[in-house]
Amino acid sequence: MSNSQNIPFLDLIGLHTELEGELIPVFQKALKTAGFIGGPMVEDFENDFARFCDAKHCVGVASGTDAVLFALMAAGVRPGDVVVTVPHTFIATTEAISQSGARVAFVDIDKQTYCMDPFKLQEYLERECCLDREINRLIHRKWDAPVTAVIPVHIYGQPADMDAILELARRYNLIVIEDACQAHGAEYFSKMGNRWRKAGSMGRAAAFSFYPGKNLGACGEAGAVTTNDEAIAQKIRMLRDHGQSRKYYHEMEGYNGRLDSIQAGILHTKLRHLAEWNLKRRQAAVRYNELLSEFSAKLVLPCEPSWSRGIYHLYVVRTEKRDELQQYLTRAGIGTGVHYPVPVHLQKPYRMMGYKEGDFPVTEKVAAQVLSLPMFPALSLAQQDRVVKEIAQFARATESTPSVQPIANG
Ligand SMILES: Cc1ncc(COP(=O)(O)O)c(C=O)c1O
Repeated sequence: MSNSQNIPFLDLIGLHTELEGELIPVFQKALKTAGFIGGPMVEDFENDFARFCDAKHCVGVASGTDAVLFALMAAGVRPGDVVVTVPHTFIATTEAISQSGARVAFVDIDKQTYCMDPFKLQEYLERECCLDREINRLIHRKWDAPVTAVIPVHIYGQPADMDAILELARRYNLIVIEDACQAHGAEYFSKMGNRWRKAGSMGRAAAFSFYPGKNLGACGEAGAVTTNDEAIAQKIRMLRDHGQSRKYYHEMEGYNGRLDSIQAGILHTKLRHLAEWNLKRRQAAVRYNELLSEFSAKLVLPCEPSWSRGIYHLYVVRTEKRDELQQYLTRAGIGTGVHYPVPVHLQKPYRMMGYKEGDFPVTEKVAAQVLSLPMFPALSLAQQDRVVKEIAQFARATESTPSVQPIANG
C-alpha cells in the first residue's frame, strides 16, 4: 500500500457496496408489498436479534435513544426518580434519562475498561443514599428522591463488570438497564452464572442502537430493546406506537418510535454477517495490540479483562499527546475519532446540576487522552501496518520532546 492512499476511520461505503446484491431485494420487497411500517420484516428481525442476544424478546424502535428511554419507562422508572450512569458515554444515555423525567446521577469509570466502576457505584450508593427499609427503596439523601435504576454503558463494545453491578442492584433494589448501543454481540463471563453471557441479556432490559456506523448498522436511524421480561416487551410495543394496544385503542400516551420495515429488513440481512464481522474486528484488535505493544510506554492500549469478549466497535488508545497524534495521522491521510472529547457532566446542558472539573477524574483524564484508530471488519493488514508505521514515525519524531512522559496505566 502506498503512503498516498487514505485510510478511513470507518469504511461504510465499501461495506455497503459489497452487500448491494443482498440489500437491494430488501427495498424491492418493501416496495412490492408497501409494507413500510411493522409487519413480518420487523418481526423476523426482532426474533433473530433476540436469539442473537440470548434474550427472550426484542422490540425494534426508532433509535438507540428511544431504546434507552422506552426501556427505562417500561421497567418502571418514574418522573422524579434518580438514575445512575457514567459520564463517559454518548449524551443519548443521559438525554433518555432526562426525557423519562428522572434525574441523572453519575459515578466514575474504571481506569482500564472505561466502563462503570462497580466500586465507585457501591461508594455512591452507600455515601449518597440510604435504604428506606419500610418500602425497600433507596433514597438519595440530598435530593430526597428514590434511586431506582442504574445504566452501565458497554462502551466501545466492551461489557461493563456486570456481576458486581447486578449484585449491588439486587442489594439495593435497583433496575439495571444495559446501554448496549455499542455492544452488539459482546460477551461477559459471569462468575455468578459460571457462563458467558451476551450483552443485552443481563439487565432487566437493554438498549441497542443501529446507527449506521455501529457494528450492526441500519441505512438510517434504528434501535431495539431486548429483555427477558414479557411485560416490559409488551409495554415497549405500546410505547413505540402511540400507546396503542390495537389500532386506535390507546392505553396511554406513547411515541412515534417504531422501527420501520426497510431498516428491519436491512438489519436482518446484515445480522447474518455480524458474528463474522465481530470476529474480524477482534482479530484486528489483537493485531493492533501486538504491533503497538512496543509503544506501550507512550500509548495505553485497550485492556480486555479475562471476563470480557469485546466486539471493538471502537479501538481506542490513550496518549498525553492525543491532539498532536490525531493531527499527525490526519495529515498522513488516516482517519481517527475522539470518543468523547467532553465528558457528559461537563457538557452545557448539565452545567445547572453544578458539576465541575475534577468531579470524575478518571473520565476527565480519559476524555483528554483517547483516540479511536481505524477499525472496521474489512480493515486490511496493509492498512493496519500503515497506521502503525505512522504512529511509530510520530513516536520517533516526538521522542526528543521532554514533555513526552511515559503514561502509567492509570
Ligand atoms: C452509548 C450510546 N448510547 C446511546 C446511543 C444512542 O443511539 P442512537 O444514536 O441510535 O439514538 C448511542 C449512539 O451512538 C451510544 O453510543
